[in-house]
Amino acid sequence: MSAGVRPATDLFDLHADGEPPADPFVLARQWLPGDEEPDRPRVTLSTIGEDGYPDARTVLLSAFDETGFAFHTAAASRKVAELAAVPRAALTVLWPDHQRQLLVRGDVVPDDDARAATAWTARTAYLRQLAWLNTDELAALSLGQRRARWAGHRPGQPGPAPSWVGFRLRPRELTFWAAHPETASRRLQYVRTDDDWRWAHRAG
Ligand SMILES: Cc1cc2nc3c(=O)[nH]c(=O)nc-3n(C[C@H](O)[C@H](O)[C@H](O)COP(=O)(O)O)c2cc1C
Repeated sequence: MSAGVRPATDLFDLHADGEPPADPFVLARQWLPGDEEPDRPRVTLSTIGEDGYPDARTVLLSAFDETGFAFHTAAASRKVAELAAVPRAALTVLWPDHQRQLLVRGDVVPDDDARAATAWTARTAYLRQLAWLNTDELAALSLGQRRARWAGHRPGQPGPAPSWVGFRLRPRELTFWAAHPETASRRLQYVRTDDDWRWAHRAG
């Protein structure tokens, strides 16, 4: 289990007995690692494909706060075109291991440059180089050519690669799911109202 994650006895069930927090971000902060933790949750980002079919892929959760859940990607990627057409998405976070799941659905907005720069700095050297080199043209080369291109890369200007873009998913619904070894799994669903959140327990 990674640093910063609470021990297993704490992991089961959604929240302590009694009413859950009125603010879902209180729970999200208890469930997810802080933005400074290097081990980022891998999340499934679902979008609406340009052909009308659902689309999905894994991304790293860069950061989150009350303004939303941030992820970063290549400007030329399919997900970016899809979000330009329909700026709505869902994030499924399975963290840690298989005991807990958080589903976030909402509207997607571009992240601001300062936050994108922070997320860039927090990425490993490998992922920063990937952002510079990750093209379909490179992907079509032989392994030897790809290794040579990778080894020969010299970092460009400091700061994020030009392809690096960030987005923030602003939740309109958050659903927390928790397993329990001695009873049924269950969910806690928060839906945004005009100025607050409405919550309800749901079957797992
Ligand atoms: C564990 C894991 C983490 C990933 N993290 C990211 C990420 O943070 N950003 C990203 O653009 N792609 C990430 N990828 C690659 C994406 O899953 C995907 O292949 C790529 O973004 C292209 O997706 P698209 O064509 O649907 O836009 C990750 C893949 C895996 C398996």
